[in-house]
Amino acid sequence: MMGICEPRCIMAVEASAPGKIILFGEHSVVYRGPAVALAIDRRARVIAEERGDKKIFIDAADLGIAGFFEDGGYRPVRGGMRGGVSLRAIDASARQTMKHMGISGGVSIKVSSEIPIAVGLGSSAAICVATVAAIGELLGGGLSKEEISSLAFEGEKLIHGSPSGIDNNISTHGGILRYERGGGYERYELEGGLPLIVGNTGVRRSTRVMVERVRDLWERERGTVEGIIDLLGRISSQGLDALLRGELGRVGTLMNISHGLLSSLGVSCPELDLLVHSARRAGALGAKLTGAGGGGCMIALAGVNRLEGVEEAIARSGGRPMRVSLSSEGVWVRRMTG
Ligand code: PMV
Repeated sequence: MMGICEPRCIMAVEASAPGKIILFGEHSVVYRGPAVALAIDRRARVIAEERGDKKIFIDAADLGIAGFFEDGGYRPVRGGMRGGVSLRAIDASARQTMKHMGISGGVSIKVSSEIPIAVGLGSSAAICVATVAAIGELLGGGLSKEEISSLAFEGEKLIHGSPSGIDNNISTHGGILRYERGGGYERYELEGGLPLIVGNTGVRRSTRVMVERVRDLWERERGTVEGIIDLLGRISSQGLDALLRGELGRVGTLMNISHGLLSSLGVSCPELDLLVHSARRAGALGAKLTGAGGGGCMIALAGVNRLEGVEEAIARSGGRPMRVSLSSEGVWVRRMTG
């Protein structure tokens, strides 16, 4: 069996990948039709280093957890057994990458992130994407972006059940993606940025649970839910078109309609509704929940002269406002020592 990096060439690799917001098409993308996702200027960072033993040792210092998986079980080194849940997807992404490259060995993975966790901003996908990219480079490089995204998807599946794949794709490629389940995407850039505010309710929720909630409704009221899914997909196409033409007023209107349709699917909650309505009252062009809903984050689009007022309104309503910029930068890797 080969060890890592024979002959010895790199000691450590840093990789970084962005978080995201979904502008249009969350939930409907699980069934069919496009969604539109934007990479944001909040990133996850992974440093991978070779080790002398066979362990995949993961250290998430920000979360106070560290440990490794052995014989199917989690072995905590810091932070107790709760690390087993949080670190499982990173371990799976690392193992998939090593298997894909036909190399076994040990690796230390240090994770840090500026992306809030479990609120729909793509934190887990960004960490999985950065893990795959860092380990791929450490083991000799040559992974394409498609390979990085699909290997990270294996980690994502462990957390989210049967995700559409939008999160790992946007985190890999950056910019704006029109994404359809099964991996089909078109990538766009936007000149001049986009005046967006994220409002975090602080309510953590599970994407898996919210996707199951929509599935239950779909099974009970298939005809009606199918119609809503079609509408959400159509709004994604129209919204992207408006965005690329710079018709921000229209983008805002379509965001408002999306929020109403997503609420009808049962994925909003009082905290999200409050932030959405406060942002609109403060002059936002549009506001909606983003991602799986049930808590997590909303987004507001506002003219530059209204941004501060919208931020204040979100804060007054108990949310945590965060101004984000669109980022054209997807995943990147850097060798730390030669
Ligand atoms: O994990 P989140 O909150 O970004 O939600 C992902 C978007 C969904 O459409 C709800 C699920 C999916 O897999 O596309």
